[in-house]
Amino acid sequence: MAETLQKITDELRQGEAFAPFAEDPNLYAKKFYIESYGCQMNFSDSEIVAAILNEEGFGATRNYEDADLILLNTCSIREKAEQTVRNRLQAFRKMKEQRPGMLVGVLGCMAERLKAKFLEEEKLVDIVVGPDAYRSLPGLIEEAEGGQKSVNVLLSRDETYANISPVRLDSNGVTAFVSIMRGCNNMCTFCVVPFTRGRERSRDAVSIINECKDLFDRGFKEVTLLGQNVDSYYFNEGEGLENAITFAKLLEMVALISPLLRVRFSTSHPKDITDDVLHTMAKYPNICKYIHLPVQAGNTRILQLMNRTYTREWYLNRVQRIREIMPDCGLSTDIITGFCSETEEEHADTLSLMEASRFDMAYMFSYSERPGTLAARRYKDDVPDDVKQRRLEEIIKLQNGHSRESYKNDIGKVFEVLIEGNSKRSDKDWCGRNSQNKMVVFPKGDANLKKGDYAMVKINEATSATLIGEMINN
Ligand code: 5AD
Ligand code: SF4
Repeated sequence: MAETLQKITDELRQGEAFAPFAEDPNLYAKKFYIESYGCQMNFSDSEIVAAILNEEGFGATRNYEDADLILLNTCSIREKAEQTVRNRLQAFRKMKEQRPGMLVGVLGCMAERLKAKFLEEEKLVDIVVGPDAYRSLPGLIEEAEGGQKSVNVLLSRDETYANISPVRLDSNGVTAFVSIMRGCNNMCTFCVVPFTRGRERSRDAVSIINECKDLFDRGFKEVTLLGQNVDSYYFNEGEGLENAITFAKLLEMVALISPLLRVRFSTSHPKDITDDVLHTMAKYPNICKYIHLPVQAGNTRILQLMNRTYTREWYLNRVQRIREIMPDCGLSTDIITGFCSETEEEHADTLSLMEASRFDMAYMFSYSERPGTLAARRYKDDVPDDVKQRRLEEIIKLQNGHSRESYKNDIGKVFEVLIEGNSKRSDKDWCGRNSQNKMVVFPKGDANLKKGDYAMVKINEATSATLIGEMINN
């Protein structure tokens, strides 16, 4: 460990070159406009794409009417996500008719899933690029500029874009995403991700540390380490296990950059999250006490059909360990209702697991069959839509109660809050998050604080999604 850290520190001293932040777009000959849909990984990928395009003389613009190139970074996770993208494409069609020279590109999971079919189905699309093929964008744009529609959806076993320094788009200058791995090997039977993002691979630990260090040097105060399944992060450059970097070790290395740099991560898989990770979190105050731990369902038979590879009891045991090791840890989850053959009793198991786990927050969905997945090939999507919907409403109602209670329980507590900017409602208030990832709003008063500062805030009021408080003397 000490050796690895030394090696990393040495590399940092040598100072790798980093590309500049998004500069004045007027410095560039051409302009691109990018919109991202879906998970944080897509937003993070768009920043890699921005870096690749900057190199090619394209500057980012927030106004699509100015753009020479419009890109949509798309999501396939549920049918509704795909529909949103298709509707958005329609909005660009008129513009394309008026400006035939303007290019439209589709990136991300929908590009990977639909491949060249996209060009047939959506005539205005010129370029289709999958998540592992962004380095080929310059060539594809050139082809498209010459009137040739172009597609690259090759998946890779080793692409991590490690040496590309993301250009931060729409950044608050305080928090940033850092991708630590790509792809997923889990093959949950409902999930399209293993098909659209390919095999799992971990990014070189040195490049991750360098990126985090660079962000901190630029004034950023929080990094979120991103991966489909961060707990299976594994990087081993040298021979032998002593050089192996697990997720727990990586977390520690990032935490050691500075006590003033907060560290978050997403997403954890219940089968892989180790006590080692939990102890590392507990050891470092700057590793945020918050875990997003998708359960998907509360019944073991359904979990098996989903190929989640854990039981209800295993999940509850993980929650118990989290509470034992970090009693103040925030916990959120993902839940799917109405998966193939789910009975009313099995749905009730999800509700009772929620009662037992008491999530602070949850993302809840009804099952949406995705073409090509094992569930689509082997199981019948046989829970009627109205039943799926009713079950979804039941879990949402239960979760709303739990969230309200969790936020209410924080009244009277004092939290360290990292200021991210003005609150949405008033520029007289700051907003930021506490370690547990809850949004906190409080009056600026006459304290001379700024974005990126930490404040100690006492909570006086709570809704089911925001804590409201006042600063106390630091
Ligand atoms: N239908 C509904 N929800 C899904 N998710 C993934 N695939 C599907 C699907 N086919 C949800 C899971 C996952 C989250 C990112 O999206 O809950 O954790
Ligand atoms: Fe999909 Fe499962 Fe991988 Fe998450 S862990 S991306 S749900 S296959």
